Amino acid sequence: MPTQPGYDPKAVRALFDEMAATYGIVNFIASFGFAARWRHQLVEGLPLSDASHVVDLMSGMNELCRSVAPHAAPTMRLTAIDISQEMTRRARMHWPFRVEIHLQDVLTWDIEPACADAVISSFGLKTFDRTQQQQLSERVARLLRPGGVFSFVEISVPPARLLQLPYLFYLSRVIPWIGRLFLGDPANYRLLGVYTQAFGTCHHFAECLRQQGLEVSEVSYFFGCATGVRGIKPHA
Ligand SMILES: C[S@@+](CC[C@H](N)C(=O)[O-])C[C@H]1O[C@@H](n2cnc3c(N)ncnc32)[C@H](O)[C@@H]1O
Repeated sequence: MPTQPGYDPKAVRALFDEMAATYGIVNFIASFGFAARWRHQLVEGLPLSDASHVVDLMSGMNELCRSVAPHAAPTMRLTAIDISQEMTRRARMHWPFRVEIHLQDVLTWDIEPACADAVISSFGLKTFDRTQQQQLSERVARLLRPGGVFSFVEISVPPARLLQLPYLFYLSRVIPWIGRLFLGDPANYRLLGVYTQAFGTCHHFAECLRQQGLEVSEVSYFFGCATGVRGIKPHA
């Protein structure tokens, strides 16, 4: 049973290819709807109705599109990037705006500089180590046009010890059982807990984004059970 997270993109892709069939239902049930709520909160307040091009990184099965839809102009275009063939194959494509999926590693994908009005991402950071988070921050800064906005959220380790122990127990022991109930491989779901513990919070990623010259606010959701970063690329 792996106890150390692996950050090789091939291993991460294989993990999500295997989990794709059960990820949606397990994520919804095991998070008691919090995952959906945090996605909505990630999008709230972003000026998406003015955005013509939104980029969703680590887009999975386009889960974030549900949160984007109520705020989006019909003329909007969303580019979704994900490394897992099985996740993208299951992605819902019918939304009240145009969606294009690219099956790519976000760290090597050939990006068009300053093409995005907004960069968004939910629950895709934990499988990046600190160096990869640094590389990702460079890519976010490059993707955004000046004045463009960004918002990320990730499951995190809450600071209060009273909450930390039961929450980590839930992530690493209970969720794998829920995964098994829905015929997923419990070892894969256990690994998500291992990644979360190693990830900690979005703070390191926030620092990386600041080094790229972006204005960054750090956000805490439900006593730190998830954390996020949001902000803007200032005009030069
Ligand atoms: C936990 S899922 C999150 C999916 C979705 N955004 C959501 O809100 O549920 C993490 C996703 O990140 C993708 N991913 C991980 N590393 C990636 C990389 N280097 N490039 C692109 N996608 C990646 C995985 O394939 C997976 O679909």
